[in-house]
Amino acid sequence: EKGGCEHFMLKEMYEQPKAITDTFSPRLKGKEIVIEELGMSDEDILSVKKMMIVACGSAYHAGVTGKYVLEGMARIPVEVDLASEYRYRDPLIEEGTLMIIISQSGETADSLAALRDSRSRGAKVLGIVNVVGSSIAREADNVMYTWAGPEIAVATTKAYSCQLIALYLLAMKFAKVRGTVTDQELEGYIEDLKRIPEQVEMLLNNKNRIQKFATRYLAARDVFFIGRGIDYAISLEGSLKLKEISYIHSEAYAAGELKHGTISLIEEGTLVAAVLTQEKLYQKMISNMVEVRTRGAFVLAVTNEGNGEVKRAADYVIYIPETNPYFTNSLAIIPLQLFGYYISVGKGCDVDKPRNLAKSVTVE
Ligand code: M6R
Repeated sequence: EKGGCEHFMLKEMYEQPKAITDTFSPRLKGKEIVIEELGMSDEDILSVKKMMIVACGSAYHAGVTGKYVLEGMARIPVEVDLASEYRYRDPLIEEGTLMIIISQSGETADSLAALRDSRSRGAKVLGIVNVVGSSIAREADNVMYTWAGPEIAVATTKAYSCQLIALYLLAMKFAKVRGTVTDQELEGYIEDLKRIPEQVEMLLNNKNRIQKFATRYLAARDVFFIGRGIDYAISLEGSLKLKEISYIHSEAYAAGELKHGTISLIEEGTLVAAVLTQEKLYQKMISNMVEVRTRGAFVLAVTNEGNGEVKRAADYVIYIPETNPYFTNSLAIIPLQLFGYYISVGKGCDVDKPRNLAKSVTVE
């Protein structure tokens, strides 16, 4: 049942190239993005003034990436909220707000409650859901399914990766209709999207190197993940992956926030994972890496192939292949998933069923 893998998590990581392809291919028609299940005409799309993304855990992290991509590509304001916060804060929903609820299981109690609350306030709700026919899928006005297939491991990998893809497609669709990308740019994005599965595969095949690196950190007490912009979003997910299955305390920080408190936690040998995939932010990130390194941190960098300067500030570098800046999270997450996985395996933890956690959180 685990397809020859030792754990469901590994099997599901390996299913990512296929899951990603299954999620984008039905929505690509030549040079067009067609998302029929959105149930929105071009006119409806143009009437959207704002989006609100609400979710929990990794689905929330996908939403944070979505905010950067949607705002950047489609120039539409996006708010992202944790469902457990959103539902108790008497949210303001103006005319023209599209609510997006992201959930693998479609049964998360807080996300479902947020959906019901926003519908009662008159919002139109789009669900980005993996489990067909789940509560969120049934109660949303429209559903865009992520075609990841069943996910068993508590730590999500392939469903999260497909949520990113769904958000990219949505951003591309809105950008096209709103006229914020040229046809040529859109074609480029489609080409880049189509290359993600093979690039993910390549990164997965690098697993032995990550495993070797991970075994050096089995006894780590704290790990920090830092990034800026879209790389901050991936830091959040990388940190959650590590802590939920390895029980190592880890935190994600927007790199610019280090100086506002966290840097005091850096000691000799502390592992800092720095993600830098946004060329325009390389220099800023490198300064942050130098800052932590001077205080004794060991810096693991995840960056683009061709970043010649990273070595100046990193002790160990993992390169991701070239894609456009909006899609880098889909690649950068792979080594971070593998890192969490191998630490968990190395420590002898219950990888697929970590303590105190459930796959689907149906209680508040
Ligand atoms: O089923 P959902 O996507 O609504 O679940 C949300 C979170 O509970 C989930 O992503 C959780 O954080 C995972 N354990 C992360 O790996």
